[in-house]
Amino acid sequence: MSRARGPLAPPDLRELVRLARRARLRAHAPFSRFRVGAALRTRTGEIVTGCNIENATYGLTVCAERVAIMKAVSEGLRDFDAVAVVADSKRPTAPCGPCRQLLWEFCGDVWVHMADVKGKVLSHRLAKLLPLPFAARNL
Ligand code: THU
Repeated sequence: MSRARGPLAPPDLRELVRLARRARLRAHAPFSRFRVGAALRTRTGEIVTGCNIENATYGLTVCAERVAIMKAVSEGLRDFDAVAVVADSKRPTAPCGPCRQLLWEFCGDVWVHMADVKGKVLSHRLAKLLPLPFAARNL
């Protein structure tokens, strides 16, 4: 499991947020009209992005964070140290509960950088967003 050492400093953080913002533009969100972009960074500096992809059944909607994780893991990337989430909203968008769980599975206690539409970034470690997580060691 990867362990984040510290928050990403600019310009790395700026670049991660920029790529998440760019991914947001590819969102398929005709139902909520709430477009979200995410960017996941590996320890070696690769960045994998995702956007939310909604579905007319609603329930099949996939969040931006989950798209990024699935893309990364399916490409063989696993050792992450940060994720950025960008939405159209006035206040930073924090990952939903299921995404927090999924982030924990593959990223461990990474930095989660949440940017609002103006670019203001709120950063927290995942352990703060998901205290007492259920994980493989519980099985
Ligand atoms: N959404 C995300 O993609 N990530 C989040 O962290 C919160 C919610 C998406 C799901 C849905 O397409 C839309 O935002 C409204 O909930």
